[in-house]
Amino acid sequence: MGRIKIIAGNWKMNKNLSEAVSLTQEIIHSSPENNSLKIIFPPFPFIQSVNEVLKNKKGFFVGAQNCSEHNAGAFTGEVSATMLNSLGCTYVLIGHSERRQYFNETNALCHKKIVQALNNNIKPVYCVGETLQQRKSNTHFEIVKSQITEALSSLNSDQIKQVVIAYEPVWAIGTGETATPQQAQEMHAFIRTCMKDLFDASVSDNCILLYGGSCNASNAKDLFSCEDIDGGLIGGASLKAEDFCKIIASA
Ligand code: 13P
Repeated sequence: MGRIKIIAGNWKMNKNLSEAVSLTQEIIHSSPENNSLKIIFPPFPFIQSVNEVLKNKKGFFVGAQNCSEHNAGAFTGEVSATMLNSLGCTYVLIGHSERRQYFNETNALCHKKIVQALNNNIKPVYCVGETLQQRKSNTHFEIVKSQITEALSSLNSDQIKQVVIAYEPVWAIGTGETATPQQAQEMHAFIRTCMKDLFDASVSDNCILLYGGSCNASNAKDLFSCEDIDGGLIGGASLKAEDFCKIIASA
C-alpha cells in the first residue's frame, strides 16, 4: 500500500529533564535502522532539549502531547501550536483519551486544536477509541465513527492528508490488556471505511493509522503486521530505550 510506518512514544507526565535527555540519547544509540518514522512526544518543558538530541537524526521527530485551541492571548498555562512550531515540533497529539477523560476534551474541541496545528505546519496525531463500557455495550464502532466525523469531516483535502489517526481503546491503555490483532485490525479497517465515506478512497488508503494500548516489545510485531495497522503509539514501553527500540525493530 506504500504507507510509511510510524512508531511514536508518548511519555505522558514522566521523567525530569536529565532523564529525558538520556532516554533520547539511549534511543538514538540503540535504534535499529529501518524506514519507519520515529516520533517522541515528551512533556512540554523537555521538547527543546529532546529535539537537540534528535536533530539531524534520520527518521526521528519530536512532537507535543497537546496544544491550545487558541492562537495566542490571555490563556494562562496554555501552549499554542505557534509556540510548538517555533520549538521544532512537527507532530502533536490531539484528543488523547486522558485529555478527554480528565480535561473534558470533546470532539468539537479536538477539531479546533487540529485546525490550530495544521495552520502552524504541525501534523496532528488524532486519538480515538472507546471505553470498556462502550465496547461491552457494542457501541464501539459508533463512538469511533463520531470521534472521526465530528473532529475531521470539515477538513479540506489538503488538510486531511496531514492527519495521522491513532486508535487507542481506553480499556487497553496502561492496563496490560492489549487489543488482539484481530480486534485492532477490525477497528482500523472500520476507520478506513469511515475515511472513505467522509473523503475518498485515496485519503482512506493513504491515511496512517496507529494502534495504541499496552503495545510492547512482545506483541508489536503481530499488531504491526495487520493490513491496516501502520505502527504504534506507545506509552509505558516507550519509557525504556531497550523496549522502545525492540518495538521500532518490529515496524
Ligand atoms: P500504554 O502503552 O502505556 O498502554 O499507553 C498507550 C497510550 O496511551 C499511548 O498514547
